[in-house]
Amino acid sequence: MESGLDYHTAKALLEWQIELGATEAIGDAPVDRYVLPDTTPKAKKPATPQAKPDKPKQVDPVAIAKGAAQRAESLDQLRAVMEAFDHCELKRGARQLVFADGTPGARVMIVGEAPGRDEDREGKPFVGRAGQLLDRMLAAIDLDRAQDVYVTNVLPWRPPQNRDPKPEEIGMMKPFLERHVALAKPEVLVVMGNISCQAVLGKRGITRLRGNWDQALDLPVIPMFHPAYLLRQPQMKRQAWADLLELKARLGAG
Ligand code: URA
Repeated sequence: MESGLDYHTAKALLEWQIELGATEAIGDAPVDRYVLPDTTPKAKKPATPQAKPDKPKQVDPVAIAKGAAQRAESLDQLRAVMEAFDHCELKRGARQLVFADGTPGARVMIVGEAPGRDEDREGKPFVGRAGQLLDRMLAAIDLDRAQDVYVTNVLPWRPPQNRDPKPEEIGMMKPFLERHVALAKPEVLVVMGNISCQAVLGKRGITRLRGNWDQALDLPVIPMFHPAYLLRQPQMKRQAWADLLELKARLGAG
């Protein structure tokens, strides 16, 4: 490029730059750094709380369930807050909430697992084949299903294809179950099957647990075989009969 400098001046300038430490030429034209826009990073101003970008809110369904359940002061209110609870996937696949049946305040409260197809359709727990067996079991110890017991489930919505409820579904619905028991004020709880044992007693192993009184939610609790299991394994009805007699004895003594 034609610079307009004579040979000696150009050579002197070059030598002076080499002396300063320049090792390579990166542009033909000189750059006046004083007139370039200032791109040095500025010290950041502390962000005010309003200026913070919104973080996606963390939802804790168990905490929401606990708060909602505690606000319910009657069984009707409890049903309403459960209807409004939108954090359980099962709700989306079910036709309706299955809350309870029987007589609130009855001495015996029965806790089943979850609604099946018939219960989902009718909106009441234990109305299908398992429910009809339950009615006969209760009648065998002179308990009328409509008058002498109050019946509910751990989960109020039918799981798709009657699959087992997931631990997180049980966990998020448990605060409602606890409140349900507190508001219904039974004298004893009957937990039917492993899912109920898990939710109420925090343990499984119905074959070992059945017929033995335990304690939970400030109440005596007796685990029993689930009637749906008895339909599949009728030879187990003998043990179920012994457990029913145990329940009858407890009620007779109370
Ligand atoms: N099985 C249950 O555990 N609950 C019902 O309501 C029906 C079947």
